[in-house]
Amino acid sequence: MDVFTAIAQRSSVRAYKATDVEEDKLKKVLEAARLAPSASNRQDWKFVVVRDKETKKKLARAAFGQSFIGEAPIVITACGTEAKTVMACGQPAYTVDVSIAFTHMILQAYELGLGTCWIGAFEEGEVKKVLNIPKEVRVVAMTPLGYPDQRPSQKSRSSLNQIVCYEKYE
Ligand SMILES: Cc1cc2nc3c(=O)[nH]c(=O)nc-3n(C[C@H](O)[C@H](O)[C@H](O)COP(=O)(O)O)c2cc1C
Repeated sequence: MDVFTAIAQRSSVRAYKATDVEEDKLKKVLEAARLAPSASNRQDWKFVVVRDKETKKKLARAAFGQSFIGEAPIVITACGTEAKTVMACGQPAYTVDVSIAFTHMILQAYELGLGTCWIGAFEEGEVKKVLNIPKEVRVVAMTPLGYPDQRPSQKSRSSLNQIVCYEKYE
C-alpha cells in the first residue's frame, strides 16, 4: 500500500474485534512513531501500551465514557515528556512532535489492517492517575488499536479550493 492510499482510505474505528494484535504488528506501529521527525530531533515523547482489561476500562472512563476504547485489545497513550520548549514560531514543540509521531502510527496501523481512533476528549489528570504518568509529562492523545469491526466510513472533507490559496493568504 502506498502512503496516499493509506491517507485516503483510513477512517476512525469505533468498534473492534476481540482478536488480539500480533506482537510484530504492534512493534511496527511503534517503530513508525519512533522514526517520526521532531523539532531539533528532540524525540520528546513516550508511548504507553496497555493490554490490561481493567486499565483499558479506566482509560475509557477517563475519556468521558467512550466505551469502545476499552473494547480494543490495545490502547496506546501518547505523552509529551518535555512540555517547556516553545519553538521560535510560538508553538509548543511537544504537541507538534507527538502529533506527528501519532499520525505515523495511525497510518502504519492502517497499512497493517489495524484500526485506530485519535482520542482527544479525555481528562488528562485521570489518565495520568491511571497510568502513573509524572506531573511534568503531558498527555497529548490516546488511541485504541485493534482489528476493525465496522465498515470504513465515508470521508467528509472541505475541497482544496476552500483550504488552499496561492502566493498570499486569502
Ligand atoms: C485531535 C483529535 C481529537 C479527536 N478526538 C476524538 C475523540 O475523543 N473521540 C472520537 O471518537 N473521535 C475523536 N477524533 C476523531 C475525529 O472525530 C475524526 O478523525 C474526524 O471526524 C474525521 O473522521 P475520520 O477519522 O474517520 O476520517 C479526534 C480526532 C482528532 C484529530
